[in-house]
Amino acid sequence: MSILVTGGAGFIGSHTCVELLNAGYDTIILDNLCNSKSESVKRIKEITGKDVKFVKCDIRDRAGLDKIFSENKIDAVIHFAGLKSVPQSCKEPLEYYDNNIGGTVTLCEAMAAAGCKKIVFSSSATVYGSENPSPLREDMPEGKTTNPYGTTKLYIERILKDTYAADNEWSVCLLRYFNPIGAHKSGRIGEDPNGIPANLVPYITQVAIGKLDHLNVCGNDYPTPDGTGIRDYIHVVDLALGHIKAVEKVLGETGCSTYNLGTGKGYSVLDLVKAFEKACGKKIKYEIAPRRSGDVAICYSDPTKAKQELGWSATRDLDEMCEDSWRWQSNNPNGFED
Ligand code: NAD
Ligand code: UD1
Repeated sequence: MSILVTGGAGFIGSHTCVELLNAGYDTIILDNLCNSKSESVKRIKEITGKDVKFVKCDIRDRAGLDKIFSENKIDAVIHFAGLKSVPQSCKEPLEYYDNNIGGTVTLCEAMAAAGCKKIVFSSSATVYGSENPSPLREDMPEGKTTNPYGTTKLYIERILKDTYAADNEWSVCLLRYFNPIGAHKSGRIGEDPNGIPANLVPYITQVAIGKLDHLNVCGNDYPTPDGTGIRDYIHVVDLALGHIKAVEKVLGETGCSTYNLGTGKGYSVLDLVKAFEKACGKKIKYEIAPRRSGDVAICYSDPTKAKQELGWSATRDLDEMCEDSWRWQSNNPNGFED
């Protein structure tokens, strides 16, 4: 079986390609490298000892997509390609709507034309909004989104649901990720954000390595045991393995289903700081800062549905996530340099 992985050079995509190759799938990566480097593709090959085809292409390039589908027999698509920065999406909403929503529509049109109607999509816990109480379940109503990035995820979910409703030959799996962190055990692939990281763990790793002076803890007056925000951090390799189960599902049957990919456990910002200090053997300097706008106090999953229907659950704990993030960062202080 042959899987096209859009955004496969990125953080979650590269880890998923490793697991796809390990599971014996032929894997084709499509990426425009706007937020990744071709070095990650080399390292996927190095880790697995297997060949992977890489095509530099934009998901909005219909002719480019048609060429890929005509030259390769593709059985299913895992669709990671998209822009993911919340603050950038507030500054450049049209770019986000065009890239994420426009790109997905073009991709689905090319898929339908090629007769490949099986897709696994990277959604986000952000679609639950701020009103639903945790643990978040897939049958809860989607919430109001607070930024254009989140809105793209919500709309793409709807577009894919409508696509299946109109044509039951489609097989769609919407995966709502919680907070992916960690890295492959080899320390060869990991998260490589551009500029100053917006997310907690890459920020902490850059403090640990001395690139940033201290962490700003965004709010310590939330209604949580230590006052800091609680999230469901999930190891990126567990997340990648969830995609293998999702691909098996879309290859095996038609339908449209939604799954949380989380651990079901919530940890606070200060829990993360402590776990990371243990992993790296250094103190992480931090200061309490104001709340970040758009943040919810508590967000964690109920992962039951994925366990029951996909036979998947996360197995890697917070200590392992921090150890693996640290190995990646300390072995690659400047990320992928190519
Ligand atoms: P990433 O930026 O590392 O990977 C995305 C990849 O898509 C990059 O390699 C980028 O170059 C590529 N890309 C972007 N636009 C493209 C386009 N128009 N054409 C072709 N390639 C394009 O991000 P990630 O963390 O690996 O996230 C993967 C997906 O998961 C994204 O859709 C993201 O929104 C979603 N997601 C991520 C998180 C998270 O915390 N990392 C949480 C929820 C959902
Ligand atoms: C954020 C996005 C979410 C996106 C996800 C992955 C928002 C509101 N949400 O999730 O849509 O899918 O990233 O890209 O931006 N924190 C600090 N200091 C920091 C950074 C973060 O204290 O420097 C805290 C936050 O307040 C939060 C926790 O750490 O409580 C996790 O933050 P982050 O890693 O940015 O993830 P989310 O906000 O959950």
